[in-house]
Parts: sequence; C-alpha cells; structure tokens
Amino acid sequence: MTAPTFTSSATYQTLQQQAKILANTSLSALFTHHPQRASLFSLEGAGLLFDYSKNLLDTTTLNLLIDLADSVSLPQAIEHYFSGTKINSTEQRAALHTALRSGNKQALYVDGKNIRPSIHATLEKMGFICDQIQDGIWRGFTGKPITDVVNIGIGGADLGPKMASCALTPYHQPSLTCHFVSNMDGSDIHAALAKLCPETTLFIVSSKTFTTVETLTNAHTAKQWLLQQAHFHPSDLDKHFIAITSQPDKAIQFGISPSHILPLWDWVGGRFSVWSAVGLPLALSIGMKHFRAFLQGAQQMDEHFRTQPLRQNMPVLLGLISFWYTHFLNAKTHAILPYDHHLRYLVSYLQQLEMESNGKQKKHNGEQVAYTTCPIIWGDVGTNGQHAFHQLLHQGTHLNPLDFIVAINPHHPYTEQHQQLFAHCLAQSHAFVVGCTEEEAAHKLRQRGLAETDIKRLSPHLVMAGNRPHNIILLPKLTPAHLGALIALYEHKVFVLGTLWNINSFDQWGVELGKEFAIKLLPALQSKDASDIPASLSSVVHYYHRHKT
Ligand code: F6P
Repeated sequence: MTAPTFTSSATYQTLQQQAKILANTSLSALFTHHPQRASLFSLEGAGLLFDYSKNLLDTTTLNLLIDLADSVSLPQAIEHYFSGTKINSTEQRAALHTALRSGNKQALYVDGKNIRPSIHATLEKMGFICDQIQDGIWRGFTGKPITDVVNIGIGGADLGPKMASCALTPYHQPSLTCHFVSNMDGSDIHAALAKLCPETTLFIVSSKTFTTVETLTNAHTAKQWLLQQAHFHPSDLDKHFIAITSQPDKAIQFGISPSHILPLWDWVGGRFSVWSAVGLPLALSIGMKHFRAFLQGAQQMDEHFRTQPLRQNMPVLLGLISFWYTHFLNAKTHAILPYDHHLRYLVSYLQQLEMESNGKQKKHNGEQVAYTTCPIIWGDVGTNGQHAFHQLLHQGTHLNPLDFIVAINPHHPYTEQHQQLFAHCLAQSHAFVVGCTEEEAAHKLRQRGLAETDIKRLSPHLVMAGNRPHNIILLPKLTPAHLGALIALYEHKVFVLGTLWNINSFDQWGVELGKEFAIKLLPALQSKDASDIPASLSSVVHYYHRHKT
C-alpha cells in the first residue's frame, strides 16, 4: 500500500490556514452569520440525526476535508472494506464484520470460500439455542430449565454484548438473566457465582483465540464450581457450557462438545464481533427477533456509508470532524456523553473500538507516522458527568470535542422526567456554544441582589468562553435497530480515520507485550527468587513478598 503524503499536500496546508482563520471566530459568530447553519450542517441517515453544526468549521473547511478524503482514495477504500480485501495488512485478513449483518445473499469469497452460508447457518444455530433455552428444553444437570447465562470473555468478547445487552434492557425476556464476567480479578466471577444456582446456570465461553488467559482462568473456575457440586458428573458439563471461538479444537480440549461450539472467523476482529455468535448473550437477552433488528439497523448504516457521497455521509463526516480537531486544532481527547442510563457501557465499548483500532503510530508499510493519531476517548453518561467533569469542559484550558447522544422517546413511563433529561442535554450544548460573558455574569448576580463589590469579585469566575465544539446524535428511541445503526456509525468512523492516517485499524499488537511480561513475572511472585525481577519493579515485588499472607 502506498503511503499518502497528505500532510504536505496543498489541501492540508490550506486547512492549516483555515484553522488560523477559524481560531479568530466563534461558534456564536458562525451561527449569527448563518442562521440556517443548524439545518445545513445536520444530516439524517439510518434513522439517526447527526447535527454537526456546533463545530469550529465552515463549508470551506468541510470541502477541504472532503478533498483530503478523496486524495487518500477513501471511496475506493470503502469498497475494499466491504468487498473483503485483506485490509488488515499485518495479519493478512479481511475485516468483514459488515457481512455479518448484510441481508445480501450474493456470494462473498474469502480465500476462495463463500462465507455467506456459514454466517446464515450460525444465525440459525443461535436462533435454535435461544429457542431451546427460552422454551425450557435446554436443561441443566438436575433437569431444571436454564435461568441464568454467564458470558465469560474479555475485550470484544465482553464489551460488545454487555454494552448492547444493557442498552436494550427494555427488550429483555424476563425468564432469563445474563451476566458478564471478564476480569482476571477473581472478585468478578466470585460475585457472579455467589448469586447463581449451578443447576440452572449456563456458561458461554467467548474467545476468538481460546487462549486469552483471563477468559480461560474464569472458565476453569466456572468448570470447577460445577464439578464440585453434589451429583454433578463430568459428562454434565455439556449441559452447562457453550463456546464461541475460531479455535474449536481448543474448546473441545477444554471439555465443550463440538455441537455446543459456535464459530468465529478470522475476518471478524474481536471489537467488531458483537454481530456474530459473540452476540449470543444479547440474542438470549432480547430474543432473536430483536437481535435481527439490531443487525438490520447496522446494515442500514452500512448501506448509507457505502452509497452516500462523502459530503452527505455520516460516518465520513464524523471521522473528518475528529480528524480536523486532532490535526489542526491540537485536540488530544474526544468525549462521548450519552444522555441515556442504558448506554452506560457505551464509553468503555467505544474506548476499545477507537483506541484499540487507531491507537497506533506505524503506517501500513511500517513507517513512523509524522502526525498525531487517535485521541483519547473518554466520557460518562449525562447527567452524571455534569456533576463530575463538565466543570473542566466549560472552564478548563483544553480543547475537548464531544459527542452528545440522546434518544427522543424513553422506554420508561416518566415522560416529564425524560423531557428534563433532554432539556439538560440541549442546555449543555447551548452553554458550550454561547458560554457566558463577564457582563452577563454581572447582570445575573445583580438580579440576585448582590452588592456591587461582590459582583466585581465574583463575575470573572462565572465567565465561560463557550465555543466548545461538539456533535449531537439523536435517536428517535433506543431500539435494537437504532442501536445497531449507532454502533455501525462509530465502526465506520474508525475506518475513515484509519484510512486517513494510513494505519491498520484491525490489528492490536500493542496489547501483546504486557501478556508476555505477565508470563515471565509470575514465577517471581510465586517464589521468593528475586533474581529475574526488572529493576523498575524491585521495590514493588519486595513489598509484595513482605506483605503477602
Ligand atoms: O485486547 C486484545 C484482544 O485481542 C482484543 O482485541 C479482543 O477483543 C480480546 O483481546 C479478547 O480476545 P479473544 O476473543 O481471543 O479472547
């Protein structure tokens, strides 16, 4: 793959000039000069509204960013992405999570094999398992129906199904509860097992590689928990375990029968896998009908991304706007603010999606990049964040672009309360645009009856510069389809940014080193032989041995 030299292009340099021009304006001024800006800079797609009008950019900026996207052949890259080209260059793999939700029946070949039949067969099998469990046909070792499912997985094998399952709580089927265990810390599985009955619990061990130490450790703990139950025979394990993996042999070795193993393919990355059998806990929670609606929502966003011109393309704009702040306005972070309690795991999910994908500094060809890549993704649900970190967003010294995400219609009956939440979300957006001048602050204090000396003393502290850029993403309701579209939107944003940066968004070599060192350090913790301890860790390991009981 040839490296685009966009940083030395005329377009890039013009964008640098643009950044200087826009530094002398404000969001308020942009709205004053163009009262139609909110509607001009809003876009609907796959049922969502994307309002990007509250960003420090204008039509010229956008056109230049589109030119830049064209100059790195983004439209062609999108085609390669959807058609199964091996865009994961280091691992020589396609990234075809989009195929998992495509209704398209046309053959799609990876390494000479049409992948569609196995996708459909897996969905059928997931549906069969859901029916068996829901109808009480699948029974535990004492003959009782399954009431609880524990997903054991980490990273993509945890965050996707956990986030989506929580997001779609109103669709949960009452007869079954799903739990998620991911952490190597035994407190996680201990807390889960403490409230479960072994007779009615089913474990899903979800691991693409089936070598991930956290997952296997928890899976072994679960296995032991079952084996130590009275009347539990090793052959009963089959009634209590399902595996999702691309390595069925390893799952069989663990003791799971082939008929209880669902496949994962090397063309699906862990953090993009919620659409595959990794989504089984979600399908069990909400039922297969809703799971299919989740896939269809994502498919609508795929269709939008693949067919819309760049200027009217939601993931493209979301990506380009992030690129604008990172490259030209020196932003180092990007906050996600979902105003929805059900979206409380979205930030963690997007942290993996964006930072594991684009937190890199080598181009496809191994060269060092000469620019900043992925910003730090952070955030929390509104309105909790308002009472925690919004102070810094309003008056701090950093530039922190933001995404507000909010649904218009709630699932709960407290519609007035929801209106309040919605108003808070919009109020934050407005405050981020207009801020508050010292005169306005003084006026407010005067109205409160404060003495002039106090007004003078206090009013500087009430000043807010405003001009804090952000997007608003609106959903009519947090339904399975709209959630699917929202997640696909961010997946494609990641792809757009990876293409611009010329990095491989689909590998994750950075997580390997820590795993290697963990294997090497364990003996030093198990014995008191400190000879192999790295100098940087000597005081910590010595303290460990002195205090370990
Ligand atoms: O964090 C590295 C990673 O490979 C993720 O990409 C992945 O989602 C997670 O570990 C779990 O991997 P596996 O599914 O192979 O257990």
